Amino acid sequence: MVKVQLKTDNSLEKNKKIVYRCHKLQDILRNLKVEMKKYYIKTFGCQMNVYDSQRVAAILEDLGFSSASSIRQADLVIFNTCHIREKATEKLFSDLGRINLIKQERELEGKKTIIGVIGCVVQAEDEQIAKRAEYVDFALGPLTYHRLPEILAKIERKIGETIIDTEFPAESKFDFLPNNSSNGGCSYLAIQEGCNNFCTYCVVPYTRGIETSRPIEDVIKEAQRLVDGGTLEINLLGQNVNSYHGEDVNGKERNLAYLLNRLNEIDGLKRIRYTTSYPADVNDELIDCHRNIDKLMPYLHLPIQSGSDVILKAMNRRHNSSQYLDIIARLREANPKLGFSSDFIVGFPGETDADFQATLDVVDKVKYIQAFSFKYSRRPGTPASVMLNQVEEKVKKERLAILQSKLFDYQLKFNKELVGKVLPVLFESKGRHQGQLVGRTPYMQNLHADADKGLLNKIVNVKVNEATMNSLSGEIV
Ligand code: SAH
Ligand code: SF4
Ligand code: F3S
Repeated sequence: MVKVQLKTDNSLEKNKKIVYRCHKLQDILRNLKVEMKKYYIKTFGCQMNVYDSQRVAAILEDLGFSSASSIRQADLVIFNTCHIREKATEKLFSDLGRINLIKQERELEGKKTIIGVIGCVVQAEDEQIAKRAEYVDFALGPLTYHRLPEILAKIERKIGETIIDTEFPAESKFDFLPNNSSNGGCSYLAIQEGCNNFCTYCVVPYTRGIETSRPIEDVIKEAQRLVDGGTLEINLLGQNVNSYHGEDVNGKERNLAYLLNRLNEIDGLKRIRYTTSYPADVNDELIDCHRNIDKLMPYLHLPIQSGSDVILKAMNRRHNSSQYLDIIARLREANPKLGFSSDFIVGFPGETDADFQATLDVVDKVKYIQAFSFKYSRRPGTPASVMLNQVEEKVKKERLAILQSKLFDYQLKFNKELVGKVLPVLFESKGRHQGQLVGRTPYMQNLHADADKGLLNKIVNVKVNEATMNSLSGEIV
């Protein structure tokens, strides 16, 4: 295993040199006419990983690669990994085993395959990857993938061992990535990364590092480019997006509300969303945005995790349940149309029946229109993983089933109430049946309707005819 540490600091001169070096490398790689020309990226985890994969694809396309339609055809296979729950990590190793078989089969056909792993598992388990999957050519953390051109050049020079780079670099990857281009009507835009909250169950502060925000003007420029390329809806991303504090041109720190107001001024941008928010960081200015900015969609993901104050404290969350409900009430007062979603963890260490009941009570009060719920998963290195009062698997399973049944009821009820109503839908892709398009409602539901493909990436009014828990269907009006 070779560990690469590209030492950098924040000085402009040094950063310029790195940019120059990357451009030089791109030239070298192009001139070498490298044989490996097709890439395949498999993405696990959250929207941030989806965004990162899009940016990695842009780096590769700049280097002359094109996207492969299947793994078997790819000369470069990259897994962008998630470490949030145990199952995600185990799945990676079983997938890697399968890819190695494909690599061996391709070798018999005289084709070389480079395998790379990026993302949060790398940050946490770099040495494990090199040990358990020695056929992996490189492993890069979520903050170092902008160094991919250099790494590929090293592999071309046949180092032959797993190259690992999991530094938390001084430079921001965003300064070294090719421009983000529009991927259709909806685009992600990462504005903040990392997290300082250290919830006791969570790996994110260890895998993505401390919280950093991109400067205001960088975000505005990226947003403008996306809109110029056809984007109508931008979803601002961050692990803790509402604690955004990017600098403006004068070096003054600005918050998410300021950024939303600036984005609101971009002509041609029709819809804005932001995710994921931390309840304690919702301030009055942000609530006012939901009152005043029509482009801000009436859907907010605001995870509470548990309804029990004892458990919230043990989780190291900076809010209790009544503060959370108060924030929801103030947001609803600002925009009565707002629908909420949340993440829930059941079976956190020490969770009693009464604690679990408190979670169910919150669900009854908020009536979420969507939700994501998980059994607590012990993550190595996190404080909760060594708590002594772990909850039995059987109990976790039972509680998850009860919670999900309640959440599904509310979701279905909300969807059914939309039948007969007209909603603006942004069509994003072709549907399963011919002549059908699938789009998103303001509430993030999938809606399919018979529609001409000329309506792709457009916002169209659709009357809802049918509703199930997971999707709506309707007709264009
Ligand atoms: N930054 C976001 C989301 C981070 S991860 C937030 O704070 O809300 C997404 C979700 O995964 C979390 O909200 C949580 O519900 C879940 N999660 C994180 N760690 C977990 C663990 N160890 N076990 C089970 N679920 C977990
Ligand atoms: Fe993890 Fe908590 Fe940070 Fe969310 S706020 S990323 S759950 S530590
Ligand atoms: Fe997973 Fe990393 Fe996202 S652990 S949820 S991919 S920040």
